[in-house]
Amino acid sequence: MSKDAIRWVVKDSSKPNVFWPSEEMKKKAWVSDEKIYEEAAKDPVAWWAKLAEDGIEWFKKWTETFVHEPPFYKWFVGGKLNICYNAVDRHVKTWRRNKAAILWEPEPLNEPHRVLTYYDLYREVNKFANVLKRLGVKKGDRVGIYLPMIPEVIIAMLACARIGAVHSVVFSAFSGQALKDRLLDAEAKVLVTADGYYRRGSIINLKSNADIGVEGTTVEKIVVVKRLGLNVNMVEGRDYWWHELMKDAEPYCEPEVLDSEDMHFILYTSGTTGKPKGIEHHVGGYAVQAYWTARLTFDLHDDDVFFCTADIGWITGHTYNCYGPLLNGATFVLYEGAPDYPAPDRWWQIVEKYGVTIFYTAPTAIRMLMKYGDEWVKKHDLSTLRLLGSVGEPINEEAWLWYFNVVGGGRCPIIDTWWQTETGGTLIHSLPGIGPFIPTVAGRPFPGTKFAVLTEDGKQASIGEVGYLVHLPPFAPGMLRTVYKDPERFKQQYFGVYGDTIYYTGDGAYIHDAMGNIRITGRVDDVMKVAGHRIANAEVENAIAQHTAVVECAVVPMPHDIKGEVPVAFVVLKPGYEPSNDLETEIKRIVDKLIGPIARPEKIFFVEDLPKTRSGKIMRRILRALLRNEPVGDVTTLMNPESVHRLKEIIWLKRS
Ligand code: PRX
Repeated sequence: MSKDAIRWVVKDSSKPNVFWPSEEMKKKAWVSDEKIYEEAAKDPVAWWAKLAEDGIEWFKKWTETFVHEPPFYKWFVGGKLNICYNAVDRHVKTWRRNKAAILWEPEPLNEPHRVLTYYDLYREVNKFANVLKRLGVKKGDRVGIYLPMIPEVIIAMLACARIGAVHSVVFSAFSGQALKDRLLDAEAKVLVTADGYYRRGSIINLKSNADIGVEGTTVEKIVVVKRLGLNVNMVEGRDYWWHELMKDAEPYCEPEVLDSEDMHFILYTSGTTGKPKGIEHHVGGYAVQAYWTARLTFDLHDDDVFFCTADIGWITGHTYNCYGPLLNGATFVLYEGAPDYPAPDRWWQIVEKYGVTIFYTAPTAIRMLMKYGDEWVKKHDLSTLRLLGSVGEPINEEAWLWYFNVVGGGRCPIIDTWWQTETGGTLIHSLPGIGPFIPTVAGRPFPGTKFAVLTEDGKQASIGEVGYLVHLPPFAPGMLRTVYKDPERFKQQYFGVYGDTIYYTGDGAYIHDAMGNIRITGRVDDVMKVAGHRIANAEVENAIAQHTAVVECAVVPMPHDIKGEVPVAFVVLKPGYEPSNDLETEIKRIVDKLIGPIARPEKIFFVEDLPKTRSGKIMRRILRALLRNEPVGDVTTLMNPESVHRLKEIIWLKRS
């Protein structure tokens, strides 16, 4: 670490582990005045209207800013715009023409990286938009995108946006069957995929999955990017190589003039039933929120290099590996591969290589890298970093502090961003120039948005009281408009609990302090009722993770004759620690100490691995089912399906 690295945070003089922006941060940040919250709250609709005007170039101004017909809502009604125009064309008319837009890092170390400037991107996107048109894609048609983390995925998304087609990106590590389910629901006309890609040094044959995926669907044409040069099956009249179509594509495609409430994209996410929901986002509101949250949440400036590690197949990838940075004319890193390949310092090597200033990842990754040890981080000069972000699940204190101290060198704020596929962009977090930054506490709602924590009977919960996190009107502009082809599910899922003007997030939370900072306790389906007390799994997990031997853990409820439910913990130990009765007692004591004996795990299973989705979320549902001896259901979409078998054995052994 170079000695002159800037300190972007200062410690609170009276409270341990509370941090505030330093003078340097306040000077640099887009916003540093606390008054922004009050100003925005006076008239949120007018505030968003001002943001929409300042951040986005509209072809025609809207006539009504916010229209609410509960449970449905619209933003910037009558406004005309094009996101692709805003993300690309706008910048090529300025000094940013030859500014780097995408710094693409391939997984193999011996392959050269690629830099795409805004002008490069402009040329590629225009051509691919014409390719799509030639393949028969029209405004409103759905295009499936099943691509790894290569620049073509961004080009394809922007090309759709340019012609008003609706993209539905499917995570490239999903199986062919999972792809098929989504293509069927979206009724996609064209699929864009690749021959294959690298993951942890091996070759993934993506095209063969794509072939399974399109069977029996409405897909008429497939465009295949040659990433690896594999010998793949190409069906005459259906399959085309990207580079061949691009060779003689026209260089300019007029951006379609879209309505603010035209559909922009569909992104599938898991719901409470087995069938994924198609979350539907519309053009205008999403553009405004993507622009402003990228800018203010991460304090994104022209001289920043943003590295968001999320895959493009998730909402975080959509908003912060594509639209948010591009709308801002920023430079960002797009990395193809695994965080720990060929070694656990790959991300830190990338940060050093490009001089990354803003780094955004998920707690699960932080915990994994923490497990490898500090030396991997310390091998690299990370002094360019000025801001760290976290997303996707509650971050436990130990991971927060490791991220803060080891990765950020104790100099950078951690912006713990709460949001969902449904919200389109970040919504609850501290602002970099305002703070505070407190481990496990996300922060306040984004200016101009309103959230509440409600009790079961719909009353405002008091400070410290765990309740249900809800979003109140006017809903953030980037919020989903409906579930694709299923408005009933939209109604019932999000407005079925407190009525049709209160959006139910599905998360538990509590107000942490008088300032209104919010701590998210986790999904409500992961909340236990133990002897009448409501205990969040995440809270118990957080307590257990305080033990020095623990890397990661999951707590799930188990039925209990007297208490209704009791918590059971699955614990992954750090290398060098062995399971023992003493360790079990120590862990229980920590829970007693931090929460109380009511939260004490009834049983502790020491395990090597926890079942996780491909996005890294722990699948507590599977642990619950295993404990109850119930069928675990489909495990094929897990990152590590083999863990389920091992867990079964461990549970069985402990029982017998
Ligand atoms: O439970 C919350 C958790 O992730 C859920 C949304 O998941 P998904 O739609 O996959 O989007 C993840 C990326 C935006 C939320 O309902 N979650 C997300 N961020 C946080 C979080 N929980 C706690 N803290 C966060 N910062």
